Amino acid sequence: MKKPKFSENVPSHVAIVMDGNGRWANQRGLTRVEGHRAGEAALMDVIEGAIAAGVKYLTVFAFSTENWNRSPDEVKFLMNYNREVLIRRRDQLNDWNVKIRWVGRRPKLWPSVIDQLIAAEKLTRKNTGLVFTMCVNYGSRTELVDVAQQLVDDQASGKLKGKITEKTIQRYLLTKDLPDVDLFIRSSGEQRISNFLLWQSAYAEFVFMDVLWPDFNRESLWEAISQYTKRNRRFGKAVDKPKGK
Ligand code: IPE
Ligand code: IPE
Ligand code: MG
Repeated sequence: MKKPKFSENVPSHVAIVMDGNGRWANQRGLTRVEGHRAGEAALMDVIEGAIAAGVKYLTVFAFSTENWNRSPDEVKFLMNYNREVLIRRRDQLNDWNVKIRWVGRRPKLWPSVIDQLIAAEKLTRKNTGLVFTMCVNYGSRTELVDVAQQLVDDQASGKLKGKITEKTIQRYLLTKDLPDVDLFIRSSGEQRISNFLLWQSAYAEFVFMDVLWPDFNRESLWEAISQYTKRNRRFGKAVDKPKGK
């Protein structure tokens, strides 16, 4: 499929819950981790597709704060895997002028993964193309709890003065450098947010796709963008247009 010609309202910020790796693998008689392995090519294709479509920010859910509840073997695989994907792919992403960012919490996350996330950020920090944010050990509720605690601490110490506004909250979020999500995509057919970017997606358009993540590709992304371009975002406003008048 050739890249469709989108009108000018291509979403600036696309967020994706990359879901369905385990099911993809199990359907083929493989173990869950083989599904994660197969997801890497899908991600690279989607990044290229995002660049081609003119998306400015792509944010993906790679490991949630709840994913620690999986089997120790799967967690261990995912930690090693995230680190290896970064090492394997960072030069390619750097060549594509992609700026890699990490969003997530430090507690529990393997130091070797944090090291590679930071190394990738450093390597690509001067790039001016797509901002690609990997959410690793991320959960929106803990993020908001951390914001609340930080606000209280900063008010007590006098670092923060005056009324708390939406802008104040925005400045304290882990995603403080990112704009609101325009298009929120989830693969695998599940129709839930699973604690991803709750505040940031308050006015996002949601597209749930019946494709398991390893089968997802740039065409799937473009299909979601195409649906997005047909949506009417109202942000609470209304237009009075009686039919026939
Ligand atoms: C998404 O695929 C990847 C991660 C959560 C790390 P899953 O592993 O959730 O696959 P399913 O949803 O069980 O098929
Ligand atoms: C969300 O998927 C987390 C990631 C894709 C990293 P899950 O597969 O963990 O979500 P649930 O458990 O189905 O809600
Ligand atoms: Mg899942």
